[in-house]
Amino acid sequence: MSANSNNIHPTFDRILGREDKESFLNQKAKVIWMTGLSGSGKTTVAIALEQKLKEKGVLTQVLDGDNVRVGINNNLGFTVEDRTENIRRIAEVSKLFLNCGVVTINCFVSPTIEIRDQAKTIIGSDDFVEVFINTPIEVCEQRDVKGLYKKARAGEIKNFTGIDSPFEAPESPLIDVKTASQSIDESAEQILQVILPQITKG
Ligand code: ADX
Repeated sequence: MSANSNNIHPTFDRILGREDKESFLNQKAKVIWMTGLSGSGKTTVAIALEQKLKEKGVLTQVLDGDNVRVGINNNLGFTVEDRTENIRRIAEVSKLFLNCGVVTINCFVSPTIEIRDQAKTIIGSDDFVEVFINTPIEVCEQRDVKGLYKKARAGEIKNFTGIDSPFEAPESPLIDVKTASQSIDESAEQILQVILPQITKG
């Protein structure tokens, strides 16, 4: 439900703009959108990437499903509708960070092309950097860091991505990260090399 627009008076034109903030931080903001199965390594790679960016003097914010779902999105589950709303809110939050000049690294399963398109539309295609954390389900299931695949196979969790809920791989991600055949550091470095020129102020 949207609020009655007659009574809403945004002040976007008067608050300090994105360019001012980017100059202040001496960086260009982007949203690095990591998609992939649960257990694919999104957050692990994001944490390693964040460290590398910190060393380069870049201010970042990692957003991830498990954290966001205990806070701002704690009223959402895993139906298609709830996942869509989850990602809509995250995209709006990312836009706030973007306007603050911060590089956000988003780690969400974001399982369908439609859901990711929604995020891309909200954020703006120029600022949306799609990264596929491309780990085969067999590997995710074998790792089973959180024990969720076991529960999903036992029928204790319904609508689990890759088991009884779909995952559509991105068709043309800017970066395709194969975590099964390289180290965490190599995966983070692979992303760093592509995004660094995009976030460095010329
Ligand atoms: S999304 O589909 O809406 O983008 P999100 O990234 O926020 O998902 O949350 C995924 C995380 O929630 C997983 O990494 C896992 O820890 C947990 N989880 C719990 N139930 C499910 C489920 N049914 N499907 C996928 N992930 C689940």
